[in-house]
Amino acid sequence: MNEAHTVERPTDIDELFRPTQDERARRGFVSALRNHAKVTMRDAMQRHYEQVIEPAHVALHGHPPVSGAAIEELMQDQPAYQIYGSVRYNAQRMVYLTAIDPIEREHERLVQFARTVASERPAGGTLRLNSELAVPRYVTALDVHLIPGGFHSEYVADDVAQGALIAWGGQASRGANVERADDGGGVARSIATWLKRAHPKFKPAAMLDLGTQSGKNLVPYLDVFPQVEAHGVDVSAPALRYGHVKAECAGKRVHFSQQNAEELDFPDAHFQLIVSSFFFHELPLKATRRILAECHRLLAPGGMMVHMELPPHELCTAWQNFYWDWDAKHNNEPFYVDFRSQELPTLMSEAGFDKDATFMRVVPNVATFDMQQYEGFLAGEVAAPLHGRGGWFVFGARKDG
Ligand SMILES: C[S@@+](CC[C@H](N)C(=O)[O-])C[C@H]1O[C@@H](n2cnc3c(N)ncnc32)[C@H](O)[C@@H]1O
Repeated sequence: MNEAHTVERPTDIDELFRPTQDERARRGFVSALRNHAKVTMRDAMQRHYEQVIEPAHVALHGHPPVSGAAIEELMQDQPAYQIYGSVRYNAQRMVYLTAIDPIEREHERLVQFARTVASERPAGGTLRLNSELAVPRYVTALDVHLIPGGFHSEYVADDVAQGALIAWGGQASRGANVERADDGGGVARSIATWLKRAHPKFKPAAMLDLGTQSGKNLVPYLDVFPQVEAHGVDVSAPALRYGHVKAECAGKRVHFSQQNAEELDFPDAHFQLIVSSFFFHELPLKATRRILAECHRLLAPGGMMVHMELPPHELCTAWQNFYWDWDAKHNNEPFYVDFRSQELPTLMSEAGFDKDATFMRVVPNVATFDMQQYEGFLAGEVAAPLHGRGGWFVFGARKDG
């Protein structure tokens, strides 16, 4: 049964997401299936490894497998791994498929609503698009994360559909993941909280979010730093259009622009804070180096950059590396392994930052952390949760000044 009802003037673009009852049921199922793979099946696979595979390897070689790649080789023939991979891959694909029909039904209204809000700009934010921008091949060549059409595809003039697909598909992927327990903006809330609590005097006048997409991990900074001039850049026009509408409807003043983060048009030293989340693992190393150099150019003296990412191989166990590197081959993330094998302080110092002013740490996810313990965490008396299990790994630096 179609539950669609007439909404004359939505107050938010997400009101145009009107799945039928069957589509809702499908989303619930896919969400639960993905969660089942990512938690229950993962744990079962790990138990099998620890109880059977690793002891057999130790008996034969006198030591456990030394790397994630070595574990992958041992696990490839194991049903626990094959079933996990098969369910996880298909659940990931279906997450986005659940959003396509509702988007196609409302496509015209989505585009029209985005046009209207962009012309009114009730919150005073801006959207600068550049139709001449060459979207890098590492973005266009494949459907990253198995999102049909990837990050950037456009089908009609002023299209916003791909932005909606990423957002509404993504919601189905987060829905049931108990360990994440946030609405998608949790990384920003967690880093902003850490900045405010660990550096109480730090009050950025202007900030920039790289690979901002819809700005969902940018907008929450405005709650912690209400005066900040907030900028978000991405190469994807439809994601930026969607984000612009979201921010304007939420009354959040954000300045979005379509730019390649490797070469930005902001003046030197314009920002006190540069952030990103889930961004660097999408990039070839050459682009990473150029972007870190841009961060150094764009930061004012004393400014900080804080990038949330997967932790590097060197800080993880062989099992964690095996688990996280799965995405490289099976979730269209070809640069994952290369990124994770880097020495981040070296990369940052090569980009111009003083190595002693660089940092790597895990900040607690404020959606799940017991905030009574936060002072203890800051004092080093309470351990940070693991990345992805109640914490977010971040790396960054403070610019001399
Ligand atoms: C995984 S998404 C991150 C989304 C967002 N930061 C979040 O927290 O959900 C990566 C984003 O980076 C963008 N991107 C990739 N390469 C880029 C580049 N060179 N410059 C700007 N944006 C880029 C993609 O278009 C995509 O929207």
